[in-house]
Amino acid sequence: MTATDRPATWDVPLAGATRFTWDYDAGRERLLGLYQKGKDKQWDARTRIDWDVEVDPDNAAGMPDSFHPLHGSELWDRMPESARTELVRDQNSWLFSQFLHGEQGALNVSARIVESVPDLDSKFYAATQTMDEARHVEIFARFVREKIGAEYPINRDLARLLEESLSDGRWDLPYLGMQVLIEGLALAAFGLYRDIAPNPLVKQLLAYVMQDEARHVAFGRLALKDYYAELTEKERAEREEFVVEGCYLMRERFKGLEVYERLGLPVAECAAYVDRSEVFLLFQSHLLSRIVPVVRDIGLWGDRVRDAYADMGVLDHAKADLEELMRQDEQVAETYDRERDERELAVRRAEVEAAITLGRGDEPPARNAG
Ligand SMILES: [Fe+2]
Ligand SMILES: [Fe+2]
Repeated sequence: MTATDRPATWDVPLAGATRFTWDYDAGRERLLGLYQKGKDKQWDARTRIDWDVEVDPDNAAGMPDSFHPLHGSELWDRMPESARTELVRDQNSWLFSQFLHGEQGALNVSARIVESVPDLDSKFYAATQTMDEARHVEIFARFVREKIGAEYPINRDLARLLEESLSDGRWDLPYLGMQVLIEGLALAAFGLYRDIAPNPLVKQLLAYVMQDEARHVAFGRLALKDYYAELTEKERAEREEFVVEGCYLMRERFKGLEVYERLGLPVAECAAYVDRSEVFLLFQSHLLSRIVPVVRDIGLWGDRVRDAYADMGVLDHAKADLEELMRQDEQVAETYDRERDERELAVRRAEVEAAITLGRGDEPPARNAG
């Protein structure tokens, strides 16, 4: 799929107001602390990531065939090897393209938050998040372009949720839709691929992106929790409705039916297999694991939300320890840093030793002193 068969831009009209505040002194300590952390933890994707690591363009993440939702179906068994290769290649291209488009959504939304949120501490924080999201777009764009070489357009359900989030003038709606739902879902998918994808570059870049996301989720919790506590029942119910609708949409999004469509496979038959696939059902339930505990934490925990989560079979995720999950995400990234430092140190040591050996063997010391 090339970028030529779609318009150059997708224009979602601006909604709401740009809010100035004259209260330059006030600031919640925890939010300012998060802003400081956002500044301290900036990094450069060009130098921190080992872009030289090879990626198989036919299977970017390197997942085994058994991970594919069609694996084991009659359709899969009927397919020649070349068609399976094509399917796995496109599935990877589709997945990383959706990560890319989702990150661009996050970039636009966090910039929007800077403008629309009424408090200065939140504006400060959202400014650091905007820089983080630019970096994430940079990373996934480079990965899709350089390592896979084929891009998919934005998924319909993702586009719909983005549009609904952005076309609402209330400042919290884009944040709820983008940061809690879209990025919350991506975070669960990132975590899964970080932990089980065999390709080391995929693991590394997801670990680093997740380290930033841990701060974004923390901000969402702080800013939205305070705000939602002040809302009326009716206003809260509207947010809960939005969450329920968004979660159903997001579950559909990961079916990736447009891949089957594009490859000319029987879409209805594929969809039926995917719906029954054990791997996919597990994956689908896991996808909401990062969203459910946040929704509960920010106080959108009425009957409507709980019933929907019970219906989706994901109510148990509410018990997850968010602080612990975020701590782990930060630790995994730090482990990758340490491993990279050790590798570099080993290379430098080997270079120094080689130079010493060379110095001893080839050059008479008298000439060196010359
Ligand atoms: Fe992001
Ligand atoms: Fe984010």
